[in-house]
Amino acid sequence: MNVNRIAVVTESGNGLGKSFANILLNNNYNVILAASKKSFELLSQDGGVHQDYKLVKTDFTSAESLLELKTKIDSEFGRLDLLVNNAEIANGFGQKIDQINLDEVRLVYETNLFAVIRIIQVLKPLLEKGIDPNIINITSALGDINKMRDDEFCYSNYCMTAYATSKAALNMFTHLQCKEFKPSKIKINSFDPIALKNCTHNSVTICDGIKDDFIALIRHEESPIQ
Ligand SMILES: NC(=O)c1ccc[n+]([C@@H]2O[C@H](COP(=O)([O-])OP(=O)(O)OC[C@H]3O[C@@H](n4cnc5c(N)ncnc54)[C@H](OP(=O)(O)O)[C@@H]3O)[C@@H](O)[C@H]2O)c1
Repeated sequence: MNVNRIAVVTESGNGLGKSFANILLNNNYNVILAASKKSFELLSQDGGVHQDYKLVKTDFTSAESLLELKTKIDSEFGRLDLLVNNAEIANGFGQKIDQINLDEVRLVYETNLFAVIRIIQVLKPLLEKGIDPNIINITSALGDINKMRDDEFCYSNYCMTAYATSKAALNMFTHLQCKEFKPSKIKINSFDPIALKNCTHNSVTICDGIKDDFIALIRHEESPIQ
């Protein structure tokens, strides 16, 4: 059981981040919600459910903003035990090659990939001081080439070029970091929050089996994915 571990979840106002944050809270984590824009406003107004969280306004695409986040964690806790990279942008559904707008693709990559690299770079010194430090990069089956090649897979016809390729790149980044971090005490995992086994999921809830996998990860019982 984790006692007073310190976790950061990126964005938790709208979707699954909120579920992750609640699971962490129920597993004895101090949770820092790093959010910006709409999420931050929603969480700021949320005096009930989220009163146990520490909310820090953070734009993950800004190095300056991330350094402020690091300073706040450092001064309050002096270390970080868990980083959940959850924030995303998803756009361009169904676009064909002639419809793809490269500025929109860059925007997606900025949050889904570059911001993840940046936040790990910035927070690594705090993770190195952490207890069983762990990074969980939230990914998607849409970025899994093997699943997308399988015609039986319910979303194999989904075409979201920017999102899917950014998640595929994130998967490779996670794999490479896993190798790099192996001699150190930092663990890093990919985690797909939706087990698209039967494609009847509700996209803002985590089904029980998946929830158990996530809990196993944050309790360091096993690493089901990576
Ligand atoms: N939902 C699904 O069915 C599903 C399936 C597979 C994987 N996933 C993965 O699960 C994770 C969460 O998905 P979701 O559906 O819950 O996401 P979501 O509702 O779209 O929320 C994503 C959040 O990321 C935040 N964000 C984007 N750019 C940001 C930035 N630069 N700085 C700070 N915050 C930023 C947004 O905050 P603002 O609102 O404040 O802009 C938004 O609330 C994602 O990594 C996604 O790829 C989801």
